[in-house]
Amino acid sequence: MGKFTEALKKAAEKRIERLEKQEEVKPYVIRAASDSKIDPHVVSYFDPSSPVAEQYRILRTNLQALDKSNPPRMLAITSAIHGEGKTITAINLAVTFAHDLNKKSILLVDADLRKGTLTKDLGLKAEKGFSDILSNGAKPDESLLSIGIDNLHILPSGSRPHNPAELLGSQRARQLLAEFKAQYDYVIFDCPPVVPVTDAGVLGPLCDGVLMVLQAGRTQRGVVVHAQDRLQAVRARVLGYVMTNIEYHIPEYIYRYL
Ligand SMILES: Nc1ncnc2c1ncn2[C@@H]1O[C@H](COP(=O)(O)OP(=O)(O)O)[C@@H](O)[C@H]1O
Ligand SMILES: [Mg+2]
Repeated sequence: MGKFTEALKKAAEKRIERLEKQEEVKPYVIRAASDSKIDPHVVSYFDPSSPVAEQYRILRTNLQALDKSNPPRMLAITSAIHGEGKTITAINLAVTFAHDLNKKSILLVDADLRKGTLTKDLGLKAEKGFSDILSNGAKPDESLLSIGIDNLHILPSGSRPHNPAELLGSQRARQLLAEFKAQYDYVIFDCPPVVPVTDAGVLGPLCDGVLMVLQAGRTQRGVVVHAQDRLQAVRARVLGYVMTNIEYHIPEYIYRYL
């Protein structure tokens, strides 16, 4: 057995010993400021030096490395079904992009016009948003919100429309997306899931790429394949997968180089 494997094994055994003795094992996630209304899962905001926040930095690096001279800048975040962690992933990724020292400007859009929770998860109150801009010509400037990070703008989903897929597929949506892309370095769309509704299939191909969120231990393989087929059928470019709800079995010291 190599030295590294041995060290891993020893550390894992120690961790199990501590667990068995019920000693405190430090959780990786969640250090919410007590007065903040932002969801504590937004680790990149609350605890940027944590191992979990580092995973979002790895995701940022990987996305930027896909094409160094022309990285995907307009990203749709979706999943096969609801509740897999799309919104939390979209927020963490947006905050991570905003922390880039090269001061990128980021727009995070709640494109879940049916059941969007982005503003709620950020503890924000919204009046107008994306759907209002698409349907009745409201101005983006009237709708943008902030969580106190000056290079990160938030666009809420807006009033619940009766025709979300049509709005997202409209000529106005294409124009608006082009405006966003010209104005911001990165635009991140928190989309509805792929299997129950068509919206991500409409928005996905208009973006540079799609990230699929999978919740570990929950989503059936067949459902994921079905979602992937749907995205391929509409010629959306699936850039990769983000797995949520992972438990770390690798000893903490390996992550704690920070
Ligand atoms: N990486 C994660 N690990 C553990 N729980 C998570 C993670 N991301 C999200 N959650 C929790 O899972 C639930 C669904 O997350 P959400 O982002 O709203 O999903 P979706 O947007 O896909 O419906 C929320 O209660 C959220 O706090
Ligand atoms: Mg969501």
